[in-house]
Amino acid sequence: MALERTFSIIKPDAVAKNAIGAIYNRFESAGLRIVASKMLHLSREKAEGFYAEHKERPFFGALVDFMTSGPVMVQVLEGENAVVKNRQIMGATNPAEADAGTLRSDYAESIDENAVHGSDAPESAAREIAYFFSDEEICPRTR
Ligand code: TYD
Ligand code: MG
Repeated sequence: MALERTFSIIKPDAVAKNAIGAIYNRFESAGLRIVASKMLHLSREKAEGFYAEHKERPFFGALVDFMTSGPVMVQVLEGENAVVKNRQIMGATNPAEADAGTLRSDYAESIDENAVHGSDAPESAAREIAYFFSDEEICPRTR
C-alpha cells in the first residue's frame, strides 16, 4: 500500500497530563512518521469550524468549550495505512469501550474529554490537514 497521511490532535486534557511525548512515541513506535507539528490554542471559531459536522449534536457546545480550554498539539502523520492505523492506536471514542493499550484507554477520562482526535477517512484527512497546515509546513522525509 502507498504512503498515506492522516491528521491528529492531542487534545487539551492529554496536553495537560504532560503526555505529548508519550503519545508521539506511540505514533512512531507504530511506524507513523510526524511530518508536520505545532502547538496551538484554538479559538472558538477555529474549533467550531473543525467540528462543523457535529454542530447539531447535543454535545457540540461542550466539545468546543473543551477543545478551547487549553493548548493542543496538531500533527500530520504519514505511513502505510495511516488513517486506519492511527484510529487503531487511538481506540474507541468512549474510553470505557477502548481496547487496553490504546491512547484513549490509557489517557482519556470520558467520551467528552478523550485525549486525541484522528481523521476517520482519507477524504476527511485531506480536509483536516488543509484546515491546519499550509503545504510548506509539511515536511516529508528525504532520508
Ligand atoms: P466522533 O467523530 O463521533 O468521534 P471520534 O473523535 O472518535 O471520531 O465525535 C467527535 C468528538 O465529539 C469525540 O471525540 C468527542 C465528542 N463527543 C462527545 O463529547 N460526546 C459524544 O457522545 C460523542 C459521540 C462525541
Ligand atoms: Mg470523528
